[in-house]
Amino acid sequence: MSNLNKSTDSLPVLSVHDLAISYRVRRGMLQAVQGVSFDLHRGESITLVGESGCGKTTLGLSLVRLLPKQATITRGEILYQRDGKRVDVVELSPRQLRQFRWAECAMVFQGAQNAFNPVLRIWDQIWDTIKAHGGMPKAQARERALELLAMVQLEPKRVIDAFPHELSGGMRQRVLIAMSLLLDPQVLILDEPTTALDVLTQRTVIEVLRRLKEQLGFAMIFITHDLAVAAELADRVATMYAGRIVELGPVEDIFYRASHPYSLGLIQAVPTVTGEFVDLTSIEGSPPDLIAPPSGCKFHPRCSFATQRCREEEPELQAIGATHAVACHNWQLVRAQAEARRAPRPTLAEPTQTGSQPILEEGV
Ligand SMILES: Nc1ncnc2c1ncn2[C@@H]1O[C@H](COP(=O)(O)OP(=O)(O)OP(=O)(O)O)[C@@H](O)[C@H]1O
Ligand code: SF4
Ligand SMILES: [Mg+2]
Repeated sequence: MSNLNKSTDSLPVLSVHDLAISYRVRRGMLQAVQGVSFDLHRGESITLVGESGCGKTTLGLSLVRLLPKQATITRGEILYQRDGKRVDVVELSPRQLRQFRWAECAMVFQGAQNAFNPVLRIWDQIWDTIKAHGGMPKAQARERALELLAMVQLEPKRVIDAFPHELSGGMRQRVLIAMSLLLDPQVLILDEPTTALDVLTQRTVIEVLRRLKEQLGFAMIFITHDLAVAAELADRVATMYAGRIVELGPVEDIFYRASHPYSLGLIQAVPTVTGEFVDLTSIEGSPPDLIAPPSGCKFHPRCSFATQRCREEEPELQAIGATHAVACHNWQLVRAQAEARRAPRPTLAEPTQTGSQPILEEGV
């Protein structure tokens, strides 16, 4: 296995080793995650990018053991570390898992901003969550909730007693982020938290997250299919394809020295808002069938760099620099093309608001 560790002294808070997850479906076993390994360090943010169905949500859910019942972790370990103690999340009992979720590792689910109970006020939903996870005294919980709502730039006293329908999508998303941090987790997993939002609201949520991460010091796994969002938030980017991490490296390496054709394809498909002219291309073809995936490299049917070796031999994720790893037999050729491209990295539109004043408008 290649060295996928960040060059840092800090111990990883989460180490995933050779994780594999399958879904039982009518046609057989669908291999949604295959041989995924990475370390997440204290205070670090890793963004998982990749097209629909590549396994991002499955991987995220497995880290808090919230996979649907058709799913099985067939291999691997998820080691979580706090205060010198290490536990394998795969081995935790249901009782231990309840303590682990939210207090150690919290997740904001894909589409969850639409899943609030419409007849309960925000405070009732916050209190239910705290009670379910072994929480804290009610007065202290309310105090902490108000504090966190202010930190996500909402007007706390109004929002805490509001019904979900009284808040916009962007406000509900920020309430969820605040809720996820109530028990002070070390790891926060966010699955497509900005996808349903307009571009300017997206930017505001990203700014809020960036500030929270600085203030509270949690590590973050941010799942998105949007590279502009990844570029804003990530320390490192992991590109996923067909259930595998095919490239992992610091954000600058991925955007300027992409060494996997799929990462390069994703980057070439993103327009920039800075006005420079670059050729945009889409990635031809469609994702593979994960029940009967292609031989060799899973990307070979769509890859313009593919050779006979690619059709026969699956590439391992290998280190190509101190902190950059790629699973491609022809990565040098890909990298040369990426370096020749010299396009600016994707950026988001300007924020709706800067500074730390609460955002009061309903539309944000
Ligand atoms: N409950 C399930 N039962 C069977 N197969 C599933 C289930 N959930 C996901 N899958 C399959 O597992 C694979 C990975 O899905 P997953 O939802 O993890 O992808 P994703 O990268 O999060 O996609 P998206 O960007 O659309 O959210 C897909 O092929 C999907 O069809
Ligand atoms: S191993 Fe071959 S098919 Fe796979 S991404 Fe690299 S060049 Fe393309
Ligand atoms: Mg998903």
